[in-house]
Amino acid sequence: MLNPHSAERPPAEDGRRRRSTSRHGWSFIEEARKREIIDALCGGTEAPAGPVHVELDLTDRCNVACYFCNQMDLRTKDAMPFHHVERLLAELVAGGLRSVRLSGGGDPLMYPEIVRVLDLFAEHGVVVDNLTTNAARMGPEVQERLVRHGAREVVVSLNAVDRTDYHRMMRVAPRIFDQVLENVRSLVALRGEGPIPAVTVQFLIDRESYRRLGEMYVLGRFLGADRIAVNPVLDIPNDRLAGAPLLRAGDRQQVRPYLLRALEVDRAGLLHLSFPWEEWNEMVDELRRGLSDGVGRPYPTAASFRGDLDHCFFGWYSAAIRGTGEVYPCCMLMHPAYEPLGTVRDGSFGEVWRGEGFRELRAEMREVFLKNGRLETDRPKRLRPQCVEAGRCGLKSMFFRADETFYRSLGDAMDRARRRELGSGKGWPVTRLGAEVFLYRVRWGIRTRWNRSRQRWRKLRNRRLPFLVRGARIHIGLVERSATGVRDGWVLIGPRGCTWADRTLGVGEPIPYRRAEAIHVERVLEVLLPEHARDFLGRLRDALAEGGVVRIAAVNPALVSVEEEAPPSAVALANWSAAELEAELRAAGFGAVEHLESGRSPRPWLQNLEDHPVGEDSPERPATLVVEAALTRAALEGAKGGSTGGGEASPAPARHSRFHQRSTQSGSPLTSEVVSGR
Ligand SMILES: C[S@@+](CC[C@H](N)C(=O)[O-])C[C@H]1O[C@@H](n2cnc3c(N)ncnc32)[C@H](O)[C@@H]1O
Ligand code: SF4
Ligand code: SF4
Repeated sequence: MLNPHSAERPPAEDGRRRRSTSRHGWSFIEEARKREIIDALCGGTEAPAGPVHVELDLTDRCNVACYFCNQMDLRTKDAMPFHHVERLLAELVAGGLRSVRLSGGGDPLMYPEIVRVLDLFAEHGVVVDNLTTNAARMGPEVQERLVRHGAREVVVSLNAVDRTDYHRMMRVAPRIFDQVLENVRSLVALRGEGPIPAVTVQFLIDRESYRRLGEMYVLGRFLGADRIAVNPVLDIPNDRLAGAPLLRAGDRQQVRPYLLRALEVDRAGLLHLSFPWEEWNEMVDELRRGLSDGVGRPYPTAASFRGDLDHCFFGWYSAAIRGTGEVYPCCMLMHPAYEPLGTVRDGSFGEVWRGEGFRELRAEMREVFLKNGRLETDRPKRLRPQCVEAGRCGLKSMFFRADETFYRSLGDAMDRARRRELGSGKGWPVTRLGAEVFLYRVRWGIRTRWNRSRQRWRKLRNRRLPFLVRGARIHIGLVERSATGVRDGWVLIGPRGCTWADRTLGVGEPIPYRRAEAIHVERVLEVLLPEHARDFLGRLRDALAEGGVVRIAAVNPALVSVEEEAPPSAVALANWSAAELEAELRAAGFGAVEHLESGRSPRPWLQNLEDHPVGEDSPERPATLVVEAALTRAALEGAKGGSTGGGEASPAPARHSRFHQRSTQSGSPLTSEVVSGR
């Protein structure tokens, strides 16, 4: 059997051994074989001897029913008979196969003879580079084989963060969630300190769940995962997910704070974020750059990897084979609308590998390479838009891009092929191609520098000259909450990570703005004494421009029993009901008060700001009261004429002068009397 332990990486920052995760078996491929791939790709459409890596989907059956399953239209009762697996494997190994990925179709662990198959791979020296499974049937026998035979990585598609969400996403009894957690824990325990298999816990996020990214991270750590992968649920063909709460490219800004918080706490660099939208990946890169140490970059990239080499060469080195015997270029193109490249049900794999389907695929892939993402036709037969357009398919280079030698040789060979074939007047002058690549790089460079300087300027302006800033957005929070129920000190989820805001302030700090656009106040009022809460509302008013909006999220006293949960002093705090809060806001000079649900707002740029778990509440009795109020001239003038507030009379709402504001803030009673720790 091969020794798959060779690609060890240094220990992670928290001292844990960092396990090497799947690389499509790339580390098992000899340099000579990589050279063959390069020569074949740059030279023409001829096939090398055989694929070095295959995805084998042994069965189409599955034991759960995910609402989003991208295989649902392919679902049959088919499974590859064991003797077919034996025959196929012998042929593939003779052609140079080094590694497999077991995924689905359905779930690989639904294959009745999965244990025999794992033994068979080991006998042939083929490494299971990756097993992707829902893990509900990952019992002791399978776990033992995975560890003993040196499977490289097990990806557990957990997808959800608790039983309820598991039930929503996977549409099975919630108790299966517990079973999966148990199976993952016991696999991690069985592996012990051994280097493999690396365990990846994967979550899929949609509009219902992205706010729970922090909890997903915590659960992944709790299970002992070596990598925590987060991907969005993607649309699947045939409108099967119409009406589902899928995230779209335009939801980027809403998700941003949650991504940042997860990245911030990911000191060990376990988080793997990958999106099918270029702007999202750029945003993740930018967030990582903003974090001083830049930890957690999932896929290192070699210096010789160039944008014009970021194209797919799967046709020369890999194939995906379904339980029905049909062959596809990769798992991403395995759907009913895609005509398979051939079938191995009745014939040999070699016929398909050298057959017309693969030849057409290679011809199109080669053209994409040579012309750097441009095809003569807009309707290629074998490729799909994600195979041609930049940044749409992460799979095509993610596992190899760190390979310096490979990309250096590929770059040289491709440059020669381009000069040879395109520079000879065949319709694409090399000078034009060169100019395009050059311009692309210049544009990218300018954009990155521009974004960085803009960020620096915004930071500087907000720190040094806040009173001059028009339209700032401010977040005011209380303390960082540590995630409870899990080991202490791992995760802090708090206002620190609020990227929506230009400035994040603690409740006791001065608010050095005069013309802010919006202030988001989270879980603050209920820990202030009423007179301090009123003073605080006055300070919010003073910091806003006319037309500015304050959004307040506070504990609903109707749901939380103050007497039971808070110290005795807290009963005197400003635990205002919705009506009282509205009256206090009006008294402070705010008009147009609106009561809203957590995360919702008529102003799109104020949506999804609260990240408190929704818990046991309901729309009639929400755990969090959310109110938005605008600073209107009419309300201000009305308030000057007399307080409409409930409770004690509010101080006059006239604006403080800047100097007055400063002097009162420096000795603000809020600073010393905030009741923290709730
Ligand atoms: C089709 S499944 C098959 C293997 C196994 N049954 C499982 O779920 O892990 C392969 C991977 O695709 C992911 N997947 C399925 N449908 C998806 C979708 N619509 N969007 C994003 N990922 C999806 C699954 O979560 C899983 O990680
Ligand atoms: S577990 Fe995998 S194959 Fe089964 S329904 Fe879910 S995504 Fe599809
Ligand atoms: S570009 Fe992506 S989707 Fe297209 S064939 Fe390659 S791996 Fe598959």
